[in-house]
Amino acid sequence: MLREKPPGHGHTEEGVLEVLDVVVRHPQAKFVLSAMGAPPPYVVDRLHSKGVVVGAMAGSSEHAQKQIQSGVDIIVAQGSEAGGHTGTISSMVLWPEVVDAVSPVPVLAAGGVGSGRHVAAAFALGAEGVWCGTIWLGSSESELSPALRKRFIAARSQDAIQRKYDTGKPLRGLRSKWTDAWDAPDAPRPLPLAAQKLLVAAALKRFELADAADYMGYMSGQIVGRIKEELPIREIMARLKVDCHQTLERLRTSGWQ
Ligand SMILES: Cc1cc2nc3c(=O)[nH]c(=O)nc-3n(C[C@H](O)[C@H](O)[C@H](O)COP(=O)(O)O)c2cc1C
Repeated sequence: MLREKPPGHGHTEEGVLEVLDVVVRHPQAKFVLSAMGAPPPYVVDRLHSKGVVVGAMAGSSEHAQKQIQSGVDIIVAQGSEAGGHTGTISSMVLWPEVVDAVSPVPVLAAGGVGSGRHVAAAFALGAEGVWCGTIWLGSSESELSPALRKRFIAARSQDAIQRKYDTGKPLRGLRSKWTDAWDAPDAPRPLPLAAQKLLVAAALKRFELADAADYMGYMSGQIVGRIKEELPIREIMARLKVDCHQTLERLRTSGWQ
């Protein structure tokens, strides 16, 4: 019988190397993004030897410089408003800092991108492109259950809060009855990474099995406040593109140049 890996296994070196073994067995894998620390150079070399482009997620210019030393090809500069594990520097400040720190290595801008105006801003701040997460969660193709998708559509920007309760590291996700319980004055403090994951894994799984949407605080960035309806991804992409072109055209004709 196959035994399930313990929670947190994916954050260990052994767990990461197992995933890499799968990646290199599949020639259609063209890009790997490493997060939560610089990948060791031997990992980057192994991926490069298979023709895979390697990126790294950075929340500060110091992180980005370390990742460049490991030999990565692209940096994703992720501001603190992003969904998932984030640092403390917001996109507006972080993107150009990282661009300047790693030039000429290309930078993708992440954290709070939800309209063509954000895409145009990313270009203006020196990025080569954008990297989005949250805006896909309200889409028709989203991995979320219908109940949770509804909560995403109703959520405001301030409902996407950064807490350590799910993994032990600051993680931005939707506020829920679960995060409210941990925020209570008499609640215990979260444990460090891996230990906290082990502690809460069973409870999180039960919320999922019961489809208890009120208790599920799925990862989400502050841009969730812009998700107002369920749309197919094709439509979201088309709107981003049109809005970006209109913004660039407005700037071109607005007398700012
Ligand atoms: C549901 C969800 C899961 C994510 N999982 C990961 C992950 O496993 N690894 C990672 O590096 N980033 C992860 N992220 C962060 C995204 O890669 C991306 O940087 C972020 O969503 C961009 O900001 P935005 O949410 O404002 O679009 C996740 C984000 C979301 C919303």
